[in-house]
Amino acid sequence: MSHDPALLQRLAASTGTPFWLYDAAVIRQRIAAIKTITSGEGVQARFAMKACPATKVLQEMAAAGIWIDAVSGNEILRARHAGHAAGQEPPVICYTSDVFRDNALEVVLQHDILPNIGSPGMIRDLAAAGYQGKISLRVNPGFGHGHVNSCDTGGPSSKHGIWYTDVPAAQAAATAAGMQVVMLHAHIGSGPQFDELLSNLNRLVNEFADLAPSLPHLEAVSLGGGIPHNYRDPSATLPLEKLGALFTAARETLSQAAGRPLRLEIEPGRYYVAPAGTLVTRVTDVKQTQTNEKGAGATFAMVDAGFVDLVRPAMYGSWHGIEIVGRPADAPTEPIVVAGPLCESGDVFTRDDAELIQPRDLPRPVPGDLLTLRDTGAYGYAMSSNYNSVGRAPQIWLEPDGTLLQISRRETLQDILKAETNELLVDV
Ligand code: LLP
Repeated sequence: MSHDPALLQRLAASTGTPFWLYDAAVIRQRIAAIKTITSGEGVQARFAMKACPATKVLQEMAAAGIWIDAVSGNEILRARHAGHAAGQEPPVICYTSDVFRDNALEVVLQHDILPNIGSPGMIRDLAAAGYQGKISLRVNPGFGHGHVNSCDTGGPSSKHGIWYTDVPAAQAAATAAGMQVVMLHAHIGSGPQFDELLSNLNRLVNEFADLAPSLPHLEAVSLGGGIPHNYRDPSATLPLEKLGALFTAARETLSQAAGRPLRLEIEPGRYYVAPAGTLVTRVTDVKQTQTNEKGAGATFAMVDAGFVDLVRPAMYGSWHGIEIVGRPADAPTEPIVVAGPLCESGDVFTRDDAELIQPRDLPRPVPGDLLTLRDTGAYGYAMSSNYNSVGRAPQIWLEPDGTLLQISRRETLQDILKAETNELLVDV
């Protein structure tokens, strides 16, 4: 989403750079699109909040009746803080993870959250905590696809879920422990291919239809998230109506297989928020390396954002649109590498998953220019860190009427130091 250059300049002057800007109108359009494809009877959408857990975003989801997929105890508490209901009737918040870490088990029990377990041993953990209620099984269906191997969510090399042929054993263990399997779940990909998503979802529905008759307490099936966003062409529209039809048909098929009406769930993350977020950074310098026997020289635009802010290019080689603010669309371009402030040569935004640099054709910036990294609303701020003791950049929220809200401030040294202690451990 391109923003008014004058607005970005004013914000940069008042807030400093880098900063994140979220466009509420875009989030609301995406929410409306998901509501449309889940409007069939018995179909329910969740938000995989890991993609963008800001309270403001969670409140938008709550207002639209979108439920939550949480992955930690603290995500559950953040969803509660934003107004999402506790309890399992209905299970507005679902906890999906392969591990109970920190406060997760305690929070699941205290807030009566449906546990969606991705590892058979979690039945043992729940039983040890005295739990005897409903559970959901996250299944590894044996196939699936991420946009890169590190986002592989199904198949022999994926850590996620309970291998599909182990579902009967997990169900037996659950029954023996006094628990009822009420939901089957799988997330088969955070990949960019829409047609592949459709065929994988159909395959998943068939697999779940085979399992359903042997699960007497089954109430729901979740097909996970993974609705892609086209980062290279953000204006491209997906034939979402095909997904809507698939969900309605899937619910019929699965309800028939189970012999009673089931709820069908989906839980996208990226699709709701990716195009709504922009990371705004300032060009601090433009410098040059020269061709020699080791390789070709390059032009580097140095900016004040780094992979502490947006890690996707460094981690997956992900492509994000880049604009030099205020330059006309037909401005002459040249190959430019955009690199950040961190003490790490991989702190480069223009790269692919094999090469450290992949120059991008951009208008040559000058120091002081603002540069935007587009479509960074999903897994952007959410994956930011304090590496190099850099404080997280502030998040700004733009309403359609132009109202601006700062929804998180820039982190300070005090924020970074606040968990440090110097306590003597006794009786260990
Ligand atoms: N449900 C489950 C259980 C998941 O594990 C995920 C994503 C989603 C839903 C949402 O997937 P989405 O609709 O956003 O594709 N950090 C990576 C993505 C990792 C996704 C992990 N799980 C990235 O920046 O692309």
